[in-house]
Formats: sequence, C-alpha cells, structure tokens
Amino acid sequence: MKIGIHKMSFYVPKFYLDINTLAHARGIDPLKYTNGLLTHKMSVAPFNQDIVTLAANATLNYLTKEDIKAIDLILFTTESGIDYSKSAATHLISILGLRNDVRALEMKQACYATTAALYFAKGHILQHPESKVLVIASDIAKYGLNSSGEPTQGAGAVSMIVSREPNIMVLEDQYGIHSEDIYDFWRPDGLDYAQVDGKFSNEMYKKFFLKTFDNYKMQTKHTLDDFAALTFHIPYPKIGLRSLELVADKANNPSLFENFYTSISYNKYIGNIYTGSLFLSIIALLEQGNLKAGERIGMFGYGSGAVAEFFSAKLVEGYKAHLNKELHEKQLSNRTELDMEKYAVYLTRKVTNDTVLEDDLDVKVQLKSITDYKRNYQNN
Ligand code: HMG
Repeated sequence: MKIGIHKMSFYVPKFYLDINTLAHARGIDPLKYTNGLLTHKMSVAPFNQDIVTLAANATLNYLTKEDIKAIDLILFTTESGIDYSKSAATHLISILGLRNDVRALEMKQACYATTAALYFAKGHILQHPESKVLVIASDIAKYGLNSSGEPTQGAGAVSMIVSREPNIMVLEDQYGIHSEDIYDFWRPDGLDYAQVDGKFSNEMYKKFFLKTFDNYKMQTKHTLDDFAALTFHIPYPKIGLRSLELVADKANNPSLFENFYTSISYNKYIGNIYTGSLFLSIIALLEQGNLKAGERIGMFGYGSGAVAEFFSAKLVEGYKAHLNKELHEKQLSNRTELDMEKYAVYLTRKVTNDTVLEDDLDVKVQLKSITDYKRNYQNN
C-alpha cells in the first residue's frame, strides 16, 4: 500500500521582525545574519496566536468535510506546550469540528517529533487503510532578548494529512536513525526561553546528519544520484547548506544545491518554527521548484536532546495541483513589520489568566480569553 502526505499547508502569524533591524539594535554586522546564517526575517506571534490557533489556521487552509469524516487520529507535535495534561490536539476537535471518536494527542522530542509522527501515522494507516491522520507541527521559538539564539527565533505551524494513495508524496520504508542523551538545546520546567549550547548543537546536528544518512545509504544502496533534493530541519538556513556540503559539492551536484536554495525560500523569511521547519522547507521546494513526479526527496529530521532520522519520499504525478502556493505567498507578503519596541513586548509579555483579547478579524481562529486557566478560542 502506498502511504504518504496527501495535503500540506502552513500558517505564520501576521507580524515579523526584519533581521537587519535586530542586527542594528544589537550592534552586529547585518551580514552576519543575512550571509552568515542566511536568514532575513523572523515571524513573531501576537498575543491572540498560540500553538493551537497557529495549528488550526494552518489546517483550515485545506480542510474539507471529507477530511473531517476520515480523520481518526491527530498527532500534534510541539515543544511550546501550553498544558502539562490536556493535549493541544484536543482543542482542535471543537475548533475544527472533528469527530469525537478521534484519537487526539500531543508528541514531544524537540523538532524531531513530526518525523516520528509521520512514521506512526503510516503504521496506523497500514492497520486502517481508510483513515486519514492529521499531523500538525506548531511552535513559537523564543531564545530571549540579547541571547545568542535571538536571530534564530520564529513562529508558525505546518499541517499535513497522511493517507493511503496520497496526492503529494509517498513515504518510503527505509530510514536511518541516530539517538544520544545530550544537552545541546533544552528548555527545563519553569523557563520561558530555551537554553542552548550553540556551537555544540551545530556539531551534533552535523554529526547526526552524517550518521543517519550513512545508515540510510547502507540499507538502500542509494547514492546522491538517486536524490532530486536533500532537505533539512532548518533552525537557520546556513546549517542546512553546511550539512549538504559535507556530502555533496556544487561542481558535481549543482541541482542538489539549486534545490536546497529553493527549499529555504520560505524558512529564511519565517525563522525557526521548530517542529515544522523541515516540512516548511519541503513545501517551499515543491511550490517554488521544478521537481518531477517520481523523483526522490531526502529528508533530515533533527530534534535536540537528541534524536535524528534520515528518510525519503517520492513525488506523485500531478502533485503541484494539490499545493497552496498562492495562498502561502499572499500570507507571507501581507505581514506587518514590527519595530524593536513592539517585538520586545510580544517576545516577553505573556497572556495571563483572566485576560480577554480583542476580536481580530485578520485571522480565522484566535485566542479570545483565558478564564479559570481555560483557554477560549474564537472562530472569526
Ligand atoms: P554565533 O556565535 O552568534 O555565530 O552563533 P557564529 O560566530 O557561529 O557565526 C555564524 C555564521 O556567521 C558563521 O558562518 C560565521 O562565519 C558567519 P559559518 O562559518 O558557520 O558558515 N559570520 C559572518 N558572515 C558574514 N559577515 C559577518 C559575519 N560574522 C560571522 N560579519 C548560532 C550562531 C546559530 C550558534 C546561534 O544563533 C544559536 O545558538 N542559535 C540557536 C541554536 C541552533 O539553532 N542550533 C542549530 C543546531 S540544533 C537544532 O537544529 C535544534 C533546534 O532547532 C531545537 C530543536 O530541536 O527543538 C535548535
């Protein structure tokens, strides 16, 4: 049975900070960010957007009545959780009008969790071929003001439907996995901002990429020629480029480099969206690139702590017709730029209990209030 990604879309909040504004405010050469990290803008979430609303808005970009009838499993991946007990997935049952006999849960292993969710979704569909699985990655990435990770923040969600006979790509069966107990990036209980050992995290990312790619190649006997593109978890685009350079060179594999640059064309204007970053780059590659049906894409999922997986998928005939290119481009070009003062407010201030937020007709789903520590969402 062919199982894979049937629908995919993303949603980012309406605010962004230009990376040049940040560089000037911090007294840093802007080229360090634009050339050194290959990043240009970072999405910033307003108070009325949290991981649930980002996820709901991404899913509403494509959700149909037929999808709702078939979805019997929601896997919500995040590392910006809002409750220790109630999963963010349960909110989507009411917001999206999903079935009540749906399994709804939240999964965590830093940015890797979405790759694992696809694997579990595939296993579920093997047992229940008629079902569709909603896999949603949603995060708000914050390192804090004046931190070393500040230029690598972001916010957004990627929503996907996994099914048999998918319209976009078929997930292949082989994968390479590597896991180790390390502290490269972590956010302990009680801290609002991630802790990070930046240089070590970069070393680990590249080491895990080589290990999982080698493991995958050993099983499949594939070489670079078997891939139309290699895509990466993108905490910031430069690390993907540096990783690609470890296994390929521009002179011999020009198309892998061309496709890599296409794959980062959304990430560099959004920043790190943690669990969704790899899938955001796949959406960009498919929407902005020229890959053909039957071609293979390699994907590297990495989540600090750390677990990584290299896996692959093949594109389905007619996949372009099932993307949301215009909607995504419009969303990116309609955003509002923030100055440093407003950015600092949105980054540092939290929505607390007993707060009521104003109606925001710019968004379909918003956080409306928190009362008795219950979050109330509104479908505008
Ligand atoms: P840093 O110390 O500010 O920067 O940290 P740097 O000194 O390493 O320089 C960065 C690049 O800019 C280098 O390029 C410099 O040469 C260049 P490279 O040599 O690597 O190609 N540069 C310049 N280029 C042009 N003009 C200049 C200039 N100056 C320097 N004037 C770091 C950067 C990314 C470490 C920091 O921002 C950070 O800690 N970020 C957060 C951690 C992170 O993203 N780690 C990535 C791997 S871990 C991961 O992916 C998991 C994660 O997503 C979490 C999860 O799994 O949930 C984070």
